[in-house]
Amino acid sequence: MTSSLSPLTDEQRRSLIDAAASARKNAYAPYSNFTVGAAILGDSGTVYSGCNVESASYGATICGERTAAVKAISEGERRFRAVAIVTGNAAMPCGICRQFLYEFGPEMWVITADPQGRSSFEGPLKDLLPYGFGPADLVEVEHGEAAD
Ligand code: THU
Repeated sequence: MTSSLSPLTDEQRRSLIDAAASARKNAYAPYSNFTVGAAILGDSGTVYSGCNVESASYGATICGERTAAVKAISEGERRFRAVAIVTGNAAMPCGICRQFLYEFGPEMWVITADPQGRSSFEGPLKDLLPYGFGPADLVEVEHGEAAD
């Protein structure tokens, strides 16, 4: 399903899903066997991809979406236009990743898809994190008004 509200061309959408699907092949998921690939399109036009990386200390695991986001930010990208997330069953992103991505663009377009490119959701991140907490909510603290 392609939404008419999507900011992506069909070609951008396709290549973002392809990038996520190929990143998924590098997933390190020996404990869950659940492999995830993500690809983020930054405002600069560059695509950053990532996969989930698990750890024998389970809580140290990082999701595919956050791997891609951290790669983007560490390369100087600050705003995200879209993210494609590919899993075997076109699963939705976890709550931690929704929050983490929200920082870099509540309006960013989210696509969840399976490896064949069949999507289960396409829409803005803010629909997946209604009434989300973001950078603007810290303004009062910066002004010293809500520090207690
Ligand atoms: N995982 C992700 O990479 N992204 C999500 O949004 C949900 C979960 C990973 C973490 C872990 O390696 C595996 O999927 C099972 O939870």
